[in-house]
Amino acid sequence: MIEFRDVTKVYGSNDTHALENVNIKIEDGEFVFIVGSSGAGKSTFLKLIMHEEKPTSGEVIVNGYASTKMKKRQVPYYRRTMGIVFQDFRIIPKMSVYDNVAFAMRVIGTKEKEIRKRVPYILQLVGLSQKARSMPNELSGGEQQRVSLARALVNNPDLIIADEPTGNVDPEMSHEIVELLTKINNSGTTVVMVTHEHDLVRTFQRRVIVIQKGKVVSDTPDPTFAKFKTKETKKENDMFYFEQNVKNENLTEVFEDLEESDALNTDGIASLAEEETEGTVDLNELAQGGEQ
Ligand SMILES: Nc1ncnc2c1ncn2[C@@H]1O[C@H](COP(=O)(O)OP(=O)(O)OP(=O)(O)O)[C@@H](O)[C@H]1O
Ligand SMILES: [Mg+2]
Repeated sequence: MIEFRDVTKVYGSNDTHALENVNIKIEDGEFVFIVGSSGAGKSTFLKLIMHEEKPTSGEVIVNGYASTKMKKRQVPYYRRTMGIVFQDFRIIPKMSVYDNVAFAMRVIGTKEKEIRKRVPYILQLVGLSQKARSMPNELSGGEQQRVSLARALVNNPDLIIADEPTGNVDPEMSHEIVELLTKINNSGTTVVMVTHEHDLVRTFQRRVIVIQKGKVVSDTPDPTFAKFKTKETKKENDMFYFEQNVKNENLTEVFEDLEESDALNTDGIASLAEEETEGTVDLNELAQGGEQ
């Protein structure tokens, strides 16, 4: 069971109140969607469950492990009981698709014979059989996301925590991934999944927790009653509209608009791209540090 007791999380570096006074219980075997706009606190909610972050006040208890009592050295062992799909994938760049998934089994000491049977099966489940020998830099975003999913599933965890596992795939693949997760859930695994896709939430009819500005604004077993939208999402300048624009217009035109608008010149875009590359290096370190 997952329990949040009056949990507040403030990031010290910039005094951001990412979560405020959250009280939630998730029972074993549940399937829960976490929805809310960008910056609402969804990833923070998941990071508290995996004890990657500690609450500023209150307590998070997962399967008897309390955030207030947990020692740092216990965390890696604790995490092995769960399958985690990270929003930023955290796959290891120097390993093939096969080895990335196999690695999750090797760290818990699984025999190679077992690994050779299990990895191809899981890769087939997520539609990556043809890519087993590919390196991460040869994959599309959606394929990398599915490697991350395969790695989360491979050890048959009791709890799956997935941060936007469908954020980089097309609607059909999104649907397939959630269907796969519901099947795994039917066999008893608890699933906590963050998503922006309201269509998915409506289609699959599971419990929905809506987080807005760090607060749980609704928690319902029936998506019809979930408070998906705050008033702000209707504003013309909202991210939602921006995303619509990008989808509808030719991407070149959008970039030209940006260049003209003084907000970003070509250098600006180039430097953004550079920052992204630097960011990847950090994440790789994280991926390796987090799992060894
Ligand atoms: N490590 C950090 N240090 C400081 N502030 C942070 C940190 N991580 C997140 N935040 C801030 O906390 C708030 C909640 O962030 P969080 O990542 O939980 O949002 P989210 O709901 O997952 O958003 P998204 O949908 O964009 O992934 C945001 O304002 C964010 O800027
Ligand atoms: Mg997030």
